[in-house]
Amino acid sequence: MSAPIDLAALPHDFLWGTATSAYQIEGAVDEDGRAPSIWDTFSHTPGKIDNDDHGDTACDHYHRWPQDVALMRQLGVGAYRLSIAWPRVVPDGAGPVNAKGLDFYDRLIDGLLAAGITPSVTLYHWDLPQVLQDRGGWPERETAEHFAAYASVVAERLGDRVSHWATLNEPLCSAWIGHLEGRMAPGLTDLTAAVRASYHLLLGHGLATQAVRAAAPGAQIGIVNNLSPVHAATDHPEDRAAARRVDGHVNRWWLDPVHGRGFPGDMREVYGVDLPEQPGDLATIAAPLDWLGLNYYFPAYVVDDPNGPVPHGRSVRREDVPRTGMDWEIEAEGIESLLMRLTDEYGARKIYVTENGSSFPDAVQPDGAVDDPERTDYLERHLAACASAVRRGAPLAGYFAWSLLDNFEWAYGYDKRFGLVHVDYRTQARTIKASGHRYADLVRAHRALHSRAA
Ligand code: IFM
Repeated sequence: MSAPIDLAALPHDFLWGTATSAYQIEGAVDEDGRAPSIWDTFSHTPGKIDNDDHGDTACDHYHRWPQDVALMRQLGVGAYRLSIAWPRVVPDGAGPVNAKGLDFYDRLIDGLLAAGITPSVTLYHWDLPQVLQDRGGWPERETAEHFAAYASVVAERLGDRVSHWATLNEPLCSAWIGHLEGRMAPGLTDLTAAVRASYHLLLGHGLATQAVRAAAPGAQIGIVNNLSPVHAATDHPEDRAAARRVDGHVNRWWLDPVHGRGFPGDMREVYGVDLPEQPGDLATIAAPLDWLGLNYYFPAYVVDDPNGPVPHGRSVRREDVPRTGMDWEIEAEGIESLLMRLTDEYGARKIYVTENGSSFPDAVQPDGAVDDPERTDYLERHLAACASAVRRGAPLAGYFAWSLLDNFEWAYGYDKRFGLVHVDYRTQARTIKASGHRYADLVRAHRALHSRAA
């Protein structure tokens, strides 16, 4: 074992979960009334996705979900973070509800509850209905308003059984990678569009928070951000200033407004784009939350890049440090420092690690096993760091491993495997990897520890 995990530090009701998202696993993209999303369009645009992969079939979870729930039972996890596909539920983005789309999630939620697994539902994990993109997408205010209406429909239907809700997953990716860097749907490289999108995503978050609270009293609502600790790669003042800007771009832009601090002034200057503010928006964006979701994968070591794109700082590739198959640096202390930052600087009262995991090129061995020691090591190190943060006072209430299944890793297609469960995409056979078995052992050990103490 790579790192001792202080399981006793984790609260007795700690939620052990796994996570996925709709477009990455469901497939069935044109079944039962689902309309195309921006990811259908993007993934079918030649050259955008490695190997020209797309989510048409993915893990065929739309049909195989009972098997996937059974896998979760086998792992012994107590929670499952899933996302709802907006274009399944409201195919036109706004207006009529597609009953068959909602029925799918209804069955899934019932199946989870029957298996003793708590559902944690994310309303938006990047699959905007294409029709709304055709009308301007997130750079337009109406998208935020339609998002709240869709959130209300979902909460009305599922809110009697679902209490954990997240509005957005990683709005940074939607805004910056989707509208500024062009590496994700909708594939734009337009700073004004990106900043406007960031604003309307957060406004949509606030409006959806209100909508879910109204439709499902007692709902526990949060937002999920992917954060990185940002370090200057050198002591040069220019690099330190660049690190501050990158921290603004990656972390503060997303955290400050939802904590009632408004959009960071230094970053408004860096972007130089007028925000489409209307009176009352900042209060809506700062609607009180029950929890914060942290997705953590890697740290950033930054140098000044005055001629590069905003925020004029770029990550350097450090040599001789361990990396995952994504070429992402492995630094477990990063999750601990972020948990402490959310606690100390933002006063978080409840945090979930809503995603954390690693991709490595796994294969099913001749004996049928999938041995993935590097993923196991990553998992253990990060869980040890989480437990250490709890000892230091972080109110961490759960951990969702990314991901339950190997799945469609966006622009990287299917070659990047993050699952605790291996998927053979030819046969759709699922095999629990050694890391999945190790996770199950940890869940069991934590449970045993607390039942002995009780
Ligand atoms: O697969 C993604 C997920 O959709 C969002 N967070 C990061 C994961 C790994 O890249």
